[in-house]
Amino acid sequence: LSGTLVIPVAIHVIYNTAVPQENISDAQIQSQITVMNRDFSKSNADVASVPSAFAPLAANMQFQFRIASIDRKGSTKSSWGTADAVKKTAKGGVAPISPTTTLNIWICNIGGGILGYAQFPGGSSATDGVVIGPQFFGSSSLAAGYYSAPYDKGRTVTHEVGHWLNLRHIWGDTSCGNDLVADTPTQSTSNFGCPSFPHKTCGNTTNGDMFMNYMDYTDDLCMFMFSEGQKTRSRAIFAPGGARASFAP
Ligand code: ARG
Ligand code: ZN
Ligand code: CA
Repeated sequence: LSGTLVIPVAIHVIYNTAVPQENISDAQIQSQITVMNRDFSKSNADVASVPSAFAPLAANMQFQFRIASIDRKGSTKSSWGTADAVKKTAKGGVAPISPTTTLNIWICNIGGGILGYAQFPGGSSATDGVVIGPQFFGSSSLAAGYYSAPYDKGRTVTHEVGHWLNLRHIWGDTSCGNDLVADTPTQSTSNFGCPSFPHKTCGNTTNGDMFMNYMDYTDDLCMFMFSEGQKTRSRAIFAPGGARASFAP
Protein backbone atom coordinates (compact mmCIF):
# COMPACT_ATOMS: atom_id res chain seq x y z
CA LEU A 1 0.00 0.00 0.00
CA SER A 2 1.43 3.38 -0.89
CA GLY A 3 -0.04 6.77 -0.11
CA THR A 4 -3.41 7.39 1.48
CA LEU A 5 -6.03 4.65 1.28
CA VAL A 6 -9.61 5.92 1.05
CA ILE A 7 -12.06 3.54 2.74
CA PRO A 8 -15.79 3.83 1.94
CA VAL A 9 -18.03 3.56 5.01
CA ALA A 10 -21.59 2.19 5.18
CA ILE A 11 -23.42 3.43 8.29
CA HIS A 12 -26.35 1.51 9.76
CA VAL A 13 -28.33 3.20 12.54
CA ILE A 14 -30.52 0.73 14.43
CA TYR A 15 -32.45 2.55 17.12
CA ASN A 16 -34.90 1.50 19.77
CA THR A 17 -38.15 3.23 18.91
CA ALA A 18 -38.73 3.79 22.65
CA VAL A 19 -35.42 5.71 22.86
CA PRO A 20 -35.60 8.05 19.86
CA GLN A 21 -32.32 9.81 20.73
CA GLU A 22 -30.59 6.61 19.57
CA ASN A 23 -31.56 7.68 16.03
CA ILE A 24 -28.61 10.06 15.89
CA SER A 25 -28.50 12.89 13.36
CA ASP A 26 -26.59 13.05 10.11
CA ALA A 27 -24.54 15.86 11.69
CA GLN A 28 -23.48 13.61 14.59
CA ILE A 29 -22.56 10.89 12.08
CA GLN A 30 -20.55 13.37 10.01
CA SER A 31 -18.70 14.53 13.15
CA GLN A 32 -17.43 10.99 13.66
CA ILE A 33 -16.07 10.82 10.11
CA THR A 34 -14.31 14.15 10.74
CA VAL A 35 -12.68 12.74 13.90
CA MET A 36 -11.57 9.56 12.11
CA ASN A 37 -10.11 11.53 9.23
CA ARG A 38 -8.15 13.69 11.67
CA ASP A 39 -6.98 10.80 13.87
CA PHE A 40 -5.90 8.58 10.97
CA SER A 41 -3.95 11.39 9.29
CA LYS A 42 -2.25 12.75 12.42
CA SER A 43 -4.10 16.02 11.94
CA ASN A 44 -5.93 15.86 15.28
CA ALA A 45 -5.06 19.05 17.19
CA ASP A 46 -4.24 17.15 20.39
CA VAL A 47 -1.35 15.25 18.80
CA ALA A 48 0.61 18.26 20.07
CA SER A 49 0.09 16.83 23.58
CA VAL A 50 2.07 13.65 22.86
CA PRO A 51 5.01 13.68 25.34
CA SER A 52 8.24 14.60 23.54
CA ALA A 53 9.70 11.17 24.30
CA PHE A 54 6.98 9.55 22.16
CA ALA A 55 6.53 12.33 19.57
CA PRO A 56 8.91 10.78 16.98
CA LEU A 57 6.78 7.62 17.08
CA ALA A 58 3.43 9.34 16.39
CA ALA A 59 2.27 8.15 12.97
CA ASN A 60 0.24 9.50 10.10
CA MET A 61 -1.65 6.27 9.35
CA GLN A 62 -2.69 7.53 5.90
CA PHE A 63 -6.26 6.27 5.98
CA GLN A 64 -9.25 8.41 5.03
CA PHE A 65 -12.95 7.57 5.34
CA ARG A 66 -15.86 8.57 3.10
CA ILE A 67 -19.53 7.95 3.84
CA ALA A 68 -20.89 5.69 1.11
CA SER A 69 -24.38 5.26 2.58
CA ILE A 70 -26.49 5.79 5.69
CA ASP A 71 -29.50 3.61 6.49
CA ARG A 72 -31.79 3.71 9.50
CA LYS A 73 -34.05 1.12 11.09
CA GLY A 74 -36.34 1.33 14.10
CA SER A 75 -36.50 -1.69 16.39
CA THR A 76 -38.20 -2.69 19.62
CA LYS A 77 -34.98 -4.33 20.79
CA SER A 78 -33.26 -2.37 23.58
CA SER A 79 -29.82 -4.00 23.57
CA TRP A 80 -28.03 -6.10 20.99
CA GLY A 81 -25.13 -7.73 22.83
CA THR A 82 -21.92 -8.78 21.07
CA ALA A 83 -23.07 -11.91 19.18
CA ASP A 84 -23.62 -10.01 15.90
CA ALA A 85 -27.45 -10.17 15.78
CA VAL A 86 -27.41 -6.55 14.64
CA LYS A 87 -25.64 -7.64 11.43
CA LYS A 88 -28.32 -10.18 10.49
CA THR A 89 -31.61 -9.38 8.79
CA ALA A 90 -33.15 -12.61 10.14
CA LYS A 91 -32.40 -11.42 13.69
CA GLY A 92 -33.87 -7.96 13.17
CA GLY A 93 -30.60 -6.32 12.22
CA VAL A 94 -29.14 -5.07 8.92
CA ALA A 95 -26.79 -7.06 6.67
CA PRO A 96 -23.46 -5.46 5.70
CA ILE A 97 -23.16 -3.65 2.36
CA SER A 98 -20.23 -4.66 0.08
CA PRO A 99 -18.11 -5.74 3.09
CA THR A 100 -15.07 -6.72 1.01
CA THR A 101 -14.68 -3.12 -0.15
CA THR A 102 -16.56 -1.12 2.50
CA LEU A 103 -16.16 -0.62 6.24
CA ASN A 104 -19.58 -1.31 7.77
CA ILE A 105 -20.45 0.44 11.03
CA TRP A 106 -23.56 -0.50 13.00
CA ILE A 107 -24.73 2.07 15.53
CA CYS A 108 -26.92 0.47 18.19
CA ASN A 109 -27.09 0.00 21.94
CA ILE A 110 -24.89 -3.00 22.79
CA GLY A 111 -25.62 -3.05 26.53
CA GLY A 112 -23.54 -4.49 29.35
CA GLY A 113 -21.45 -1.32 29.60
CA ILE A 114 -19.82 -2.07 26.23
CA LEU A 115 -19.02 0.99 24.11
CA GLY A 116 -18.07 -0.82 20.93
CA TYR A 117 -16.57 -3.95 19.41
CA ALA A 118 -14.88 -4.81 16.15
CA GLN A 119 -14.03 -7.80 13.97
CA PHE A 120 -10.32 -8.36 13.30
CA PRO A 121 -9.15 -8.98 9.72
CA GLY A 122 -9.56 -12.54 8.49
CA GLY A 123 -13.10 -13.21 9.71
CA SER A 124 -16.34 -13.80 7.83
CA SER A 125 -17.33 -10.94 5.52
CA ALA A 126 -20.96 -11.44 6.64
CA THR A 127 -20.07 -10.04 10.07
CA ASP A 128 -17.18 -7.76 9.16
CA GLY A 129 -17.10 -4.25 10.59
CA VAL A 130 -17.55 -2.31 13.79
CA VAL A 131 -20.47 -1.91 16.23
CA ILE A 132 -20.77 1.21 18.41
CA GLY A 133 -23.29 2.54 20.91
CA PRO A 134 -25.00 5.72 19.64
CA GLN A 135 -23.86 7.85 22.58
CA PHE A 136 -20.22 6.97 21.84
CA PHE A 137 -20.43 7.89 18.16
CA GLY A 138 -19.37 11.34 16.96
CA SER A 139 -17.93 14.30 18.81
CA SER A 140 -19.78 16.64 21.16
CA SER A 141 -17.21 19.29 20.16
CA LEU A 142 -18.37 19.21 16.54
CA ALA A 143 -22.10 18.46 16.54
CA ALA A 144 -25.00 18.57 18.98
CA GLY A 145 -26.48 15.17 19.74
CA TYR A 146 -26.66 12.19 22.06
CA TYR A 147 -23.36 11.66 23.92
CA SER A 148 -21.88 10.13 27.05
CA ALA A 149 -18.76 11.83 28.49
CA PRO A 150 -15.88 11.06 28.85
CA TYR A 151 -16.38 8.96 25.70
CA ASP A 152 -17.92 11.78 23.67
CA LYS A 153 -15.12 12.82 21.32
CA GLY A 154 -15.27 10.01 18.79
CA ARG A 155 -12.28 8.02 20.00
CA THR A 156 -14.24 4.81 20.56
CA VAL A 157 -14.59 4.49 16.79
CA THR A 158 -10.92 5.36 16.27
CA HIS A 159 -10.08 2.55 18.75
CA GLU A 160 -12.47 0.01 17.19
CA VAL A 161 -11.34 0.81 13.65
CA GLY A 162 -7.83 0.24 15.01
CA HIS A 163 -8.92 -3.33 15.86
CA TRP A 164 -10.54 -3.66 12.41
CA LEU A 165 -7.11 -2.68 11.04
CA ASN A 166 -5.47 -5.54 13.02
CA LEU A 167 -4.27 -3.59 16.05
CA ARG A 168 -4.37 -5.23 19.49
CA HIS A 169 -4.86 -3.55 22.82
CA ILE A 170 -1.60 -1.89 23.73
CA TRP A 171 -1.17 -4.00 26.89
CA GLY A 172 -1.60 -7.23 24.90
CA ASP A 173 -4.71 -8.32 26.84
CA THR A 174 -2.71 -10.02 29.55
CA SER A 175 -0.38 -8.77 32.29
CA CYS A 176 2.65 -7.21 30.56
CA GLY A 177 1.39 -8.83 27.35
CA ASN A 178 2.47 -8.44 23.73
CA ASP A 179 0.55 -6.28 21.24
CA LEU A 180 2.81 -7.51 18.39
CA VAL A 181 4.10 -3.97 17.84
CA ALA A 182 7.73 -3.27 18.75
CA ASP A 183 7.63 0.49 19.35
CA THR A 184 4.80 0.48 21.89
CA PRO A 185 6.35 -0.18 25.32
CA THR A 186 5.19 -3.32 27.13
CA GLN A 187 2.69 -2.23 29.77
CA SER A 188 1.00 -3.99 32.65
CA THR A 189 -2.68 -3.50 31.85
CA SER A 190 -5.23 -1.05 30.50
CA ASN A 191 -5.16 2.56 31.69
CA PHE A 192 -8.33 4.54 32.39
CA GLY A 193 -9.06 8.22 32.89
CA CYS A 194 -6.20 10.57 32.17
CA PRO A 195 -2.88 9.35 33.64
CA SER A 196 0.09 11.67 34.05
CA PHE A 197 3.33 11.01 32.20
CA PRO A 198 5.37 8.95 32.84
CA HIS A 199 3.43 5.94 34.13
CA LYS A 200 6.01 3.15 34.45
CA THR A 201 5.03 -0.54 34.59
CA CYS A 202 6.51 -3.90 33.51
CA GLY A 203 10.04 -2.54 33.65
CA ASN A 204 9.36 0.03 30.90
CA THR A 205 11.50 2.38 32.99
CA THR A 206 12.48 4.84 30.27
CA ASN A 207 9.21 6.47 29.25
CA GLY A 208 6.60 4.18 30.76
CA ASP A 209 3.27 3.22 29.20
CA MET A 210 2.14 4.84 25.94
CA PHE A 211 -1.23 5.46 27.61
CA MET A 212 -2.11 8.24 25.14
CA ASN A 213 -2.30 5.62 22.38
CA TYR A 214 -5.77 5.04 20.85
CA MET A 215 -5.43 1.33 21.65
CA ASP A 216 -5.41 1.93 25.41
CA TYR A 217 -8.62 2.56 27.44
CA THR A 218 -8.02 6.16 28.53
CA ASP A 219 -10.63 8.94 28.17
CA ASP A 220 -11.37 10.28 24.69
CA LEU A 221 -9.60 13.55 25.54
CA CYS A 222 -6.50 11.70 26.71
CA MET A 223 -5.78 9.43 23.73
CA PHE A 224 -4.27 11.02 20.64
CA MET A 225 -1.76 8.86 18.78
CA PHE A 226 -1.02 5.69 16.84
CA SER A 227 2.64 4.62 16.58
CA GLU A 228 4.79 3.99 13.51
CA GLY A 229 4.86 0.28 14.41
CA GLN A 230 1.05 0.22 14.52
CA LYS A 231 1.00 1.92 11.12
CA THR A 232 3.23 -0.77 9.61
CA ARG A 233 1.13 -3.56 11.16
CA SER A 234 -2.20 -2.11 10.03
CA ARG A 235 -1.15 -1.28 6.49
CA ALA A 236 0.29 -4.78 5.94
CA ILE A 237 -3.23 -6.26 5.74
CA PHE A 238 -3.82 -4.35 2.49
CA ALA A 239 -0.80 -5.86 0.68
CA PRO A 240 -1.41 -8.52 -2.00
CA GLY A 241 -2.49 -11.66 -0.16
CA GLY A 242 -3.32 -9.68 2.98
CA ALA A 243 -6.63 -10.13 4.79
CA ARG A 244 -8.01 -6.80 3.50
CA ALA A 245 -6.27 -6.71 0.11
CA SER A 246 -9.71 -6.32 -1.53
CA PHE A 247 -9.89 -2.76 -0.16
CA ALA A 248 -6.67 -1.66 -1.89
CA PRO A 249 -6.75 -0.08 -5.35
N1 ARG B 1 -14.04 -0.82 25.59
C1 ARG B 1 -13.99 -0.67 24.19
C2 ARG B 1 -13.20 -1.81 23.53
O1 ARG B 1 -12.69 -2.66 24.05
C3 ARG B 1 -13.53 0.66 23.71
C4 ARG B 1 -12.88 1.58 24.63
C5 ARG B 1 -12.74 2.92 23.98
N2 ARG B 1 -12.13 3.94 24.80
C6 ARG B 1 -12.38 5.23 24.64
N3 ARG B 1 -11.72 6.13 25.31
N4 ARG B 1 -13.28 5.67 23.82
O2 ARG B 1 -13.03 -2.09 22.39
ZN1 ZN C 1 -10.61 -2.57 22.22
CA1 CA D 1 4.58 -3.39 22.15
